[in-house]
Order: sequence, then structure tokens, then C-alpha cells
Amino acid sequence: MFTEIVLLLHVLLASFWVGGMLFLSIVLAPFIRKLPIKDEAFQEVGRRFSFYGTFITLLLLFLTGIGNVFLLHGGNFSKSVWEKLGLFAVIVVVSLVHDLWAGKKAVGSKRMRAVARLLGVFNLLLGVLAFYMGVKIRMGF
Ligand code: HEM
Repeated sequence: MFTEIVLLLHVLLASFWVGGMLFLSIVLAPFIRKLPIKDEAFQEVGRRFSFYGTFITLLLLFLTGIGNVFLLHGGNFSKSVWEKLGLFAVIVVVSLVHDLWAGKKAVGSKRMRAVARLLGVFNLLLGVLAFYMGVKIRMGF
């Protein structure tokens, strides 16, 4: 039961993080760009998603992921698990640079807005790759 809950939490957190980024970029951002208060709106939405997505969710994904390794794979850190941990480290760095540097400096700067957008899309692709690697580990690779 505990094992199932840890895996369920891991998949829910992954869905929230990747799904949240997809929702932000496809649904919310095009709308916010049309608002007269777009800078404030982007900062507010970014701050909230940074708190729940980057700080809380990534931390919990790491903990439940390590939980999965012990509960489902007997503590065996296979090549795929190490690759996923490496990808996770890159995700953490890109997320922090995006949230704490590019996102904050994007107010009033066209160049930094483009950098923040690029980093955001890159992180989304990394998130999809992490999802795929989770499926690969689950299938025994
Ligand atoms: C951005 C971060 C991450 C995302 C988006 C993510 C996503 C996923 C998803 C969607 C699954 C379920 C696959 C399935 O049931 O078919 C999964 C499984 C798994 N994840 Fe993660 N994960 C992340 C981080 C981590 C980390 C840091 C670890 C630690 C090593 C980890 C270890 C695992 C393991 C071992 C499984 C397989 C569990 C099993 O055999 O059923 N994950 N991951």
C-alpha cells in the first residue's frame, strides 16, 4: 500500500509539473500577453508556479523518486536511474536560472523575456524527457 502511494504521488507530481508548464505556455501565456498589466500578471503567475512547481514539486519528485528506487527496485541504482538523476540535476539548474534570474529580469526587457521564454520551453522538453525516462525505468530498462 505504501509503495503504491509513493508511486501514485510521484506520477501525480510529475503530471502537475509537466501539465502545469504545458497549461502555462499553451493556455495562459497567450492570454496574459494581451493584458495591459501583462508584466505584473506574468510575475504573479510565475512566482506562484515557481513556489508550487519548482520548489515544492521538484523536491517531492526527488524524494518520491528515490522512494521508488528502494520500494520498487530494491535500492538498485541502474544506468537508467542514474541517467534520470543526471537529467533531474539539469532540470533543477535550468528551473532556478529561469525562475530566479531570467523571469525576474524579464520586466521591461524584451531580450530577457525571450531568454525566459526559451528556458521555459527547454525545461518543458526536459520534463517530457524525464517523464519518458520514468516510463522506461518502469518497463525494466
Ligand atoms: C522532473 C522530474 C521527474 C519526472 C517528470 C518523473 C516522472 C516519472 C513518471 C511519469 C513515472 C511513472 C512511469 C510509469 O509508471 O510508467 C516515473 C517513474 C519513476 N521515477 Fe520519476 N520522475 C522525475 C524524477 C525522478 C527522480 C529524481 C527519481 C530518482 C531516481 C525518479 C525515479 C523514478 C523511478 C525509479 C521510477 C519507476 C518506478 C517503477 O518502477 O514503477 N524520478 N517518473
